[in-house]
Amino acid sequence: MSVEPFDAVDVIRAKRDGGAVSEPALRWMVDAYTRGYVSDAQMASFAMAVFQRGMERDEIRVLTDAMIATGERMSFASLGKKTVDKHSTGGVGDKITLPLAPLVAVFGVAVPQLSGRGLGHTGGTLDKLESIPGWRASLTNDEMFAQMQSDVGAVICAAGSGLAPADKKLYALRDVTGTVEAIPLIASSIMSKKIAEGTDALVLDVKFGSGAFMQDIDRARELARTMVALGTDSGVATTALLTDMNVPLGLAIGNANEVRESVEVLAGGGPADVRELTIALAREMLTLAGQPDADVEAALDDGRAMDSWKAMIRAQGGDPDAELPTARETHVVTAPADGVVSRMDALPFGIAAWRLGAGRARAEDSVIFEAGIDLHAKPGDRVTQGQPLFTLSAADEARFPRALEALEGSWEIGDSAPESGPIVRERITA
Ligand code: URA
Repeated sequence: MSVEPFDAVDVIRAKRDGGAVSEPALRWMVDAYTRGYVSDAQMASFAMAVFQRGMERDEIRVLTDAMIATGERMSFASLGKKTVDKHSTGGVGDKITLPLAPLVAVFGVAVPQLSGRGLGHTGGTLDKLESIPGWRASLTNDEMFAQMQSDVGAVICAAGSGLAPADKKLYALRDVTGTVEAIPLIASSIMSKKIAEGTDALVLDVKFGSGAFMQDIDRARELARTMVALGTDSGVATTALLTDMNVPLGLAIGNANEVRESVEVLAGGGPADVRELTIALAREMLTLAGQPDADVEAALDDGRAMDSWKAMIRAQGGDPDAELPTARETHVVTAPADGVVSRMDALPFGIAAWRLGAGRARAEDSVIFEAGIDLHAKPGDRVTQGQPLFTLSAADEARFPRALEALEGSWEIGDSAPESGPIVRERITA
């Protein structure tokens, strides 16, 4: 039996007492945890120490690198095209990847969008796309490469288990030990997967507000800066946009209904905020790919983005023209008085959609594609008494009471429109 060079308890104590952990000790901790030598209890304790004490920039870089080293590194160097990916820290009604990936591909850039499934109140891109009959999330690396090399250019698929396996194990542990919201842990988790994926460039959509991981913009900025530095130091051209997640994005929260809304955006329409954010992120991605003047609005309005979407869906076995599932049961909430919608908090709407069946409580659960919420008004809209405000959809009406409970106190009809700013608040560069 080989002798381990460090002792987990020493590493935990060093961080617990506020010190920095040396590079070899940190690398060993991550590797030994992935091998099963360091126990879940020890790693949970270490994660809590990081949560409480933080990490220096150099430690975060080493942690990220150590997580990458536990798995494979993909490379698209022989593709002959620039590759640009996007990552969102997650929000309510965030379907932007769906219109964005095919839109960017219109300009000859390859988009290797490795995506996840939803857990808790934030939805997952793969869950949304799986509401399209026939669409397949799992691709081999060769299939992914071939799709990116072809005229299709964009791929949205599940990240294989080979990328940063340490993160997979650690993220599951953090999820059940109250250690998710630590900036060093979030930044290393996200960036280990993105750097291992081998993209040339990356745009981060870092959200702040009631429906986001980071409630306030200062913490979101710190997270964004940390991730931009990690990407840049690893040779991935990385920028971030700080975007508002206080109000649900668009009018659809769920799975099939979010696909419908994405298709509206691809047809040149859709809610203004979804279109605005899609355009902002596409511009950012294309700037990193060397095309700062690409006319992305024209591509949405003249059908090229829609053609690109259909090609991407077909390439993965889906029928882009098929009917999407619709709910058996609906429940409409109406305005109790005349006035203006003055508040609509993203988080309760995310929780309500989850309780309706759009999300999962455990990783092994399946989602109900047709479950979710369709908004008929947003903050700032004038409504009259009795006018529908939003519709809940579910497979079973027994789901409505707990969803309605989550929504209690989460919206308001007042006398005037709330103050609102642009959805993109700041741009963070290296
Ligand atoms: N997404 C991730 O992949 N990791 C985190 O820690 C948080 C969000």
